[in-house]
Amino acid sequence: MKKSTTRAMLGVGALLLAITTLAGCSNGSDASTGSGGGDASKAKIGLLLPDSVTARYASADRPLFTAEVKKQCSGCSVIYANADGDASKQLQQAQSMLTQGVKVLVLDPFDGEAAASIVQQAKAKKVPVISYDRLIDSPDLSYYISFDNEKVGELQGQALVDALKAKDVPSGSGIIMVNGSPTDNNASQFKKGAHSVIDSSGYKVLAEYDTPGWDPAKAQDWAAGQISKLGADKITGVYAANDDTGGGVIAALKSAGVKTLPPVTGQDASLAGIQRILAGEQYMTVYKAFKPEASKAADLAIQFAKGKSPKGDTTVKTAKGDSVQSTLLEPVAVTTKNVESTVVKDGLYKVTQICTTQYASACDAAGVK
Ligand code: BGC
Repeated sequence: MKKSTTRAMLGVGALLLAITTLAGCSNGSDASTGSGGGDASKAKIGLLLPDSVTARYASADRPLFTAEVKKQCSGCSVIYANADGDASKQLQQAQSMLTQGVKVLVLDPFDGEAAASIVQQAKAKKVPVISYDRLIDSPDLSYYISFDNEKVGELQGQALVDALKAKDVPSGSGIIMVNGSPTDNNASQFKKGAHSVIDSSGYKVLAEYDTPGWDPAKAQDWAAGQISKLGADKITGVYAANDDTGGGVIAALKSAGVKTLPPVTGQDASLAGIQRILAGEQYMTVYKAFKPEASKAADLAIQFAKGKSPKGDTTVKTAKGDSVQSTLLEPVAVTTKNVESTVVKDGLYKVTQICTTQYASACDAAGVK
C-alpha cells in the first residue's frame, strides 16, 4: 500500500453523538426505510462491519455513521449488518442489501481479498463501494477511508520499546507479538510498522501469532500457551495489535499469577483499554478518532448516492496495484499522560464513564477528572 500525496487531516474535536444500539440485535435498519428507487433524498445506504468481538463497531462506528447520515439526509436510511467474523456471511449480507436496492455500500471487509467479489457484484448493479477502514483488494473500489495504518504499528512498536528502555529492561530481552487477523490488510500494515521499530531495537521477538478474526479468546489461549512454554519471566514486553486482543493477553498473564505485568500495547482506545491503562495494566493504546472516519464515510456515501464521484486527498494502491481515491487520518498514541487531552477532550468518553468506583483512584493519580 502506498500513499502518493499529502495526507488528509480531519479535526478530531467533535462530540460523540447519541449512541443508538439495537440491543441484542446485530443486524437491522437504523432508520425508517425510504422508498429508495431513484430518489437520493430517500437513499438506502448499506453499512457492513466485520466482527462482533471488537468493541469499536457497536460503540462507535455504527452509531456515528448512522447519526451523520441522518444529519445530512433525514430521508435516507442505513441498512446495517455485522459479518461476525465470517466472509461468506458478509457476502450474503451484501447480496441481500443489493437486492433491497441500496445506492451505495460502505464495506469494512472481514476478508479483504474475498470481499472483491462483493465489489464486483455491486459494480454489476452500478452500486459504488466505499472500502471502510480496511482495504479491499479490488480494482473497482470507489473510495477508501482509513488511517495511516503502518504508522499505527510504528506508534505501538515505538511505545513498547520506549517503555522497556524506561524500565531499564536489558537489550536481548524477549517480546511476544499478538498480531491481528491474517484476512485483514490493516493487520499486516500494523505488523509491518511494529516490526520496523522492534526489529532494530535490540529486543528479541520470541514468538508471534496472527490472531484469526482478531478473536480475543484465541489471543488469550495462544498467550497462555507461550507463558507455559517460555516462562512468564522471559516475556518482558507484549505487542498486542488492539485493545481487545491485548485484554486477552493480560487475562492470560494474570491467570498465570503474574503480579507485575510487562508493558502491553493496544489500539482503538476502547473504554476497557483506557481503564486498563489508567490502572497500570496496559501500557498504551492507539486512538484513531472514529468520529471523523465514520462521518467522512457517511458524507461520501451520500455524495455517491447522489451520483457524484468525490476525489480523495490522496491515493492508495491495493495489493494488485490498483490506485484508489483515499482519505487517511492520523493515529495518536495514548498513555496515562494524554488520556485527558485525547479521548476525554474529544468527548469519546465522559470522565464518569471511565472513572467508575473501581478506577477512581487510578483516575486521581493520572489527573483525569
Ligand atoms: C481495525 C482496528 C480493529 C481491528 C479488529 C482493524 O482493521 O483497524 O481498529 O481493532 O480491525 O476488528
